[in-house]
Amino acid sequence: MSEAGTARAPAPVITIDGPSGAGKGTVAKQVAGRLGWLWLDSGALYRVVGLLGARRGLAPGDEAGHAALAAGLHIVFMGAADGSDAVLVDGEDLAPELRSEAVGRLASAVAVLPAVRAALVGRQQSFRRLPGLVADGRDMGSAIFPDAPLKVYLTASVAERAERRYKQLKDKGLGGSLADLSRDIEERDRRDAGRAASPLLQTADAVRIDSSARSVESVVDEVLALASARGLGARPR
Ligand code: C5P
Repeated sequence: MSEAGTARAPAPVITIDGPSGAGKGTVAKQVAGRLGWLWLDSGALYRVVGLLGARRGLAPGDEAGHAALAAGLHIVFMGAADGSDAVLVDGEDLAPELRSEAVGRLASAVAVLPAVRAALVGRQQSFRRLPGLVADGRDMGSAIFPDAPLKVYLTASVAERAERRYKQLKDKGLGGSLADLSRDIEERDRRDAGRAASPLLQTADAVRIDSSARSVESVVDEVLALASARGLGARPR
């Protein structure tokens, strides 16, 4: 049982699920900031497991090995003073490495392993604390927080997502062709939606938002308006 379920009403949660590159992380972080709530970037957990598994020489399909790694992780998320986010694992900040395409592929490979997913459930649910949580990922609304009072399914066209990723890589001075990025995104979509364990899907109670050709601000404002309409987000007096 989650910690929050033991006392009165559980802390409110807004879930933001959707495919890679739809802008979930950016939107979730800003919504959490505007509400003064916690933010859970669940993809970072899978990225850490994928990266550490590779570093330790585990075979990609080694389910027991990756699940043991996931269960034993000592991981701390921290906001740095410059606005970036640190992901400390045993004292090492893995954040700079976590966002690479290579680590994204490792994450999506370990994310198909049911024992790895099971090992991360309690850890994700433990982020549900007052005054509230904004959680982004693939299965936040369907599997981890099925009772969330607001579920958003955030998506965008493959072309738009590839274009955004291309710009991000270029800004960092990294290469990559649009065609390769599109192929990668489609491949990741197929794997995330096609797996048996907690596949990416839009639940019937989720509000679908297509972020193609929209600014981050307008999407954030829409999520905040949806939250407010459901009575979420009033700060405790
Ligand atoms: O969101 P992000 O791109 O960081 O996620 C990396 C990978 O982790 C995804 O491609 C997906 O396979 C997996 N993931 C998942 N369930 C989540 C979050 C991420 O399976 N809740």
